[in-house]
Amino acid sequence: NKPKKKKKKKKKQQPEEDEQQQPQPEEPTMSKEEKNAIVDAAVAAAKPFSYEDVMVTPATRDDFGDYQCNAAMGLAKAVGMNPRECATKIVERLRPDIQDIMEEPEIAGPGFINLRFKQEYLAAAARAMAQDAQGKLAIPPTSNQKKIVVDYSSPNIAKEMHVGHLRSTIIGDTLCNLLDFCGHDVVRLNHVGDWGTQFGMLVEHLRDEYPAALNKETSQDVDLGDLVMLYKAAKKRFDEDEDFKTRAREGVVKLQAGNAEEIAAWESLCAASRVEYQKIYDVLNIKGLEERGESFYNPLLSGVVEDLEKQELAVESNGAKVVYLEGYEARDGSPLPILVQKSDGGFNYATTDLAAIRQRTTIAASEGGEEADRVLYVTDSGQAQHFDMVFQAARKASFIPDSVSLEHVPFGLVQGEDGKKFATRSGDTVKLKDLLNEAVRIAGDDLKSRNEDSSDAAFAERIDRVATIVGIAAVKYADLSMNRESNYRFSYERMLSLNGNTAPYMLYAYARICGIIRKASGQEGSDGDFEWPEASDVIISHDTELELIRNLVKLPDLINDVEQSLYPHKLCEYLFQTSQKFNQFYGACSVNNADTPELKASRLTLCTATAGTIRLILNLLGIQTVERL
Ligand code: ARG
Repeated sequence: NKPKKKKKKKKKQQPEEDEQQQPQPEEPTMSKEEKNAIVDAAVAAAKPFSYEDVMVTPATRDDFGDYQCNAAMGLAKAVGMNPRECATKIVERLRPDIQDIMEEPEIAGPGFINLRFKQEYLAAAARAMAQDAQGKLAIPPTSNQKKIVVDYSSPNIAKEMHVGHLRSTIIGDTLCNLLDFCGHDVVRLNHVGDWGTQFGMLVEHLRDEYPAALNKETSQDVDLGDLVMLYKAAKKRFDEDEDFKTRAREGVVKLQAGNAEEIAAWESLCAASRVEYQKIYDVLNIKGLEERGESFYNPLLSGVVEDLEKQELAVESNGAKVVYLEGYEARDGSPLPILVQKSDGGFNYATTDLAAIRQRTTIAASEGGEEADRVLYVTDSGQAQHFDMVFQAARKASFIPDSVSLEHVPFGLVQGEDGKKFATRSGDTVKLKDLLNEAVRIAGDDLKSRNEDSSDAAFAERIDRVATIVGIAAVKYADLSMNRESNYRFSYERMLSLNGNTAPYMLYAYARICGIIRKASGQEGSDGDFEWPEASDVIISHDTELELIRNLVKLPDLINDVEQSLYPHKLCEYLFQTSQKFNQFYGACSVNNADTPELKASRLTLCTATAGTIRLILNLLGIQTVERL
């Protein structure tokens, strides 16, 4: 949906290139001067390290250096020049920009350019990261600050919050943390399903079973018991009892008209649901998520449909109002529209999303809107078509400025360990609360088994606290470390394992480095808070130090990548790599018994930069760290 990126600048400046690619019998032969001029212009227009014009990209293999540039290949082919000659030109262009921090570029193979950081640069960068270990690791904020709305979590009132909502919550929270870290203005919106025809039957059921819920004074305090049971009971009556069904239909109309009794009952349902999902948010430590349910957009829906009709985009079909879009067909090949108003006058999920798009992108902040530049929707992949269609309709109707980017951020299913539906042994859906508690319980048992038994109350308290951190971290990390678009199998055993790319592994790695720092910086045995040591000059005396630092300085590029791609698993991959590079370094280089005090201080600085990196990323993933496990 994102407006297609404009072709690279170099192409715009070279109409000749396109002609060149079409077979033309009397192809004008370019003079050497002309070819040179084209290549010069292209190279001069390229922004070597910018993400719009990726002439230079992070190296895909360590032996290609830190960055690589393959542009000479395409460019040379386009103008019929020798690739090595073209690469030489690019190198001439790059040299002044990079010579302070990079070694002389190396032209490899037919015309690839490999770029390698100078060791002085690496040493200084590692020191700067260590110096800012409690902060942002010396990563500057983006120069292109945007307003970004992230729509995530979004459970439905009076229904079970399921594992899909858990994924949305975990992924959405991570993306918000990361975008926020980059310096964007992030608005976290919970698009709760709190409106729709199902409320008719719920309200009528409350009228019979919990009359106090229909009274404004008492509605918020009524104990509705298990909401899922309540929903099932109401649904059963709706399906079996015609009178009840009629009442339910009338109930919706009254609710939509703002009738006091129905509104009170609806509010009691919302309040009871809110208590339930807040419990989950508390355990997951989700903060700053603002509830902005579907009901919020209710007053805007008729306006949306009117506008679509005025533009002749919404048309009548069997009494309903629909919008036809290009490229959508039903199974039988007939065109598939989106339904914006039902024949009974009611509005749809899609209508609400159209209203929400307008509210989020065009309404001024002073009037309660967001004026966002980018809107992200974190839901399961099953809703991909819905969002595709809604985005297309919004663009067709010019509901949003062209520059706004609307992005569905889809994710796959959580499956049981056997690859089948994720359910309890009796086949019921898994309650999120139970799922999280179980992870914490297993983590606690494991901690107790590995720590000396102590009946001391402080010890028990600490175990509980750490078990909560480890258990919740395990659930989050297991989810985030998978490419979000694939399905994954939920396994307590795997997610709580101390080996492999798991939260416990990373938390232990972090605590271990903190232990090394504590020892080397003379904090061992002290009960005080962990203190980050002062950073010192970094001396690169061993290959493993060099490789660790080369990995550490990739962090800003990684953050940049995830800011665009929205793939949190890349953060986890990087974390795992970092801890491996650290282990290699620590296996080969002694910190405490380093040959000189300078070398010891330097290695301590590398420990600090590494620990800071791990902590920062875990925090972005919504995971707390502990210095001692
Ligand atoms: N409540 C929906 C569900 O449970 C998710 C809402 C996603 N956000 C949106 N703007 N449609 O599937």
